[in-house]
Amino acid sequence: MQKIHSSAELRARLASEKAVAFVPTMGNLHEGHIELVRIARQQGSCVVVSIFVNPLQFGPNEDFDKYPRTLEADCAKLQGLADVVFAPAVADMYPEQQTLFVEPPPIASELCGEFRPGHFRGMATVVLKLFNLVQPQVAIFGKKDYQQLAIIRQMVTQFNLPITIVGAETSRAEDGLALSSRNQYLSPQERTEAAFLSQILRGMGEALKSGAADYPALEREAGEALAKRGWQVEYVSVRRQNGLVRPERGERLLVVLAAARLGKTRLIDNIEVCL
Ligand code: PAF
Repeated sequence: MQKIHSSAELRARLASEKAVAFVPTMGNLHEGHIELVRIARQQGSCVVVSIFVNPLQFGPNEDFDKYPRTLEADCAKLQGLADVVFAPAVADMYPEQQTLFVEPPPIASELCGEFRPGHFRGMATVVLKLFNLVQPQVAIFGKKDYQQLAIIRQMVTQFNLPITIVGAETSRAEDGLALSSRNQYLSPQERTEAAFLSQILRGMGEALKSGAADYPALEREAGEALAKRGWQVEYVSVRRQNGLVRPERGERLLVVLAAARLGKTRLIDNIEVCL
């Protein structure tokens, strides 16, 4: 496995590769990321993992400074799984001030976008830059960041990028909590409570499968149940899987998404529901 820090070196290394499978990450890798890398292994002959905490996608009051940076431990986990780890410095990704951005679609200002203004613009911009540097044939993203995945799919389609996007199932702890680098911010007590988010989503999924179709009522009840246990709820929302718009009654491919804070930690999760 080769560790590369500059974009010039990366381009030289990948120049003759014909089947690159790419997993973009912000590092602090957990089993969920490793699963994405395993999927990448099946998709290409050269697996590239990027590790870059992208300042452009963090708001001024978010956790950019304290986001865990664990490059050596990450590389140890990738040994034998990835061919190239690309870990650029901020100055290498942004050699001059970034004044051009990917303007994401309207859905980027709903759900997480309502609470993290500018997040998806920064995310889409860095992903486009990474795609241009790595030039993968396939890129793998986790479904845990469902809205991110939806926006990347739209970006790839609308900008005619010759990249197949693979959405990977969310990896979960035994109690159902979706794996996330931010879970380590939770206190032991919060960590126990955190599993409730996936439970409430599963409950909504069951209700939808049993014929419940009053989406606003389901959303409100779930939000109240979370709030009663001390969560600060940002949203619980039933959407159409494709494009994340609000579904009409009777639609069959749904996803329920939620974001809520437990203490200082913001958690997101979702569940696909196929009726
Ligand atoms: O999901 C992430 O870790 C990030 O948003 C990504 C896709 C690596 C872009 O910085």
